[in-house]
Amino acid sequence: MRRTVIAGNWKMNMTPAETKAFIEELAPMVKGMDKCDIVLCVPAIDVPAAVEAAKGTNIKIGAENVHFKESGAYTGEISAKMLVAAGVEYVVVGHSERRQYFGETDQTVNLRTLAAVNAGLTAIVCVGETLEQRELGYTETLLKYQTKMALTGISKEQLKNIVVAYEPVWAIGTGVTATADQADEGNGYVRAAIAEVYGKDVAETVTVQYGGSMNDGNAAELLSKVNVDGGLIGGASLKTDKFTAIVKAAN
Ligand code: 13P
Repeated sequence: MRRTVIAGNWKMNMTPAETKAFIEELAPMVKGMDKCDIVLCVPAIDVPAAVEAAKGTNIKIGAENVHFKESGAYTGEISAKMLVAAGVEYVVVGHSERRQYFGETDQTVNLRTLAAVNAGLTAIVCVGETLEQRELGYTETLLKYQTKMALTGISKEQLKNIVVAYEPVWAIGTGVTATADQADEGNGYVRAAIAEVYGKDVAETVTVQYGGSMNDGNAAELLSKVNVDGGLIGGASLKTDKFTAIVKAAN
């Protein structure tokens, strides 16, 4: 009933030439693995090379951020309309690194989510608790708050273009993966928050990914959980063999 989405988040890695070579190598490896959506979210500068290389394949291209205004005096920013025109279909919104290093707040995450979805992109909205918040017992409250804030103003209909990624901050880039049960529980809180606003039936249709040190060794177990509908993958998405193994686990 829910679409599984396996998405790479390259972060600040890869040049356009490396992007072209990577996708040309990956495409035959994941050919026919159509039981999930396969997405690569790449740096803005790599988007044209990625879109070109992914043409005619089952790989979709995403961006890593989007601005919330349509145009204007916002030096260095990129609008949803520009991304759509460049052939982008997905965009990561509210990644914890943007929250941590670039002043992203729940309000700006919401604005970016609205801009993305209104332009026809699918937003991969990231939520997640820090280790301190987890240890203080705030995980459920925080995940529900972040989810509801990010989706404010998104209609039931527009939820079709929303993927939520539960990424515990303590599991990102650390090699410490949440256990499959922790991932399932976190994703369950996200789904419960969606149910509280949109109803249970609708919440059951929304794809909720897990992200944080997902790799070729742990993907199958994580993805076997009822609330884990895919993955948002950092480090392991930079290697064609590892990423392919994760896509395979989802198939
Ligand atoms: P890692 O897979 O490198 O832990 O990164 C996860 C992530 O932040 C994906 O958005």
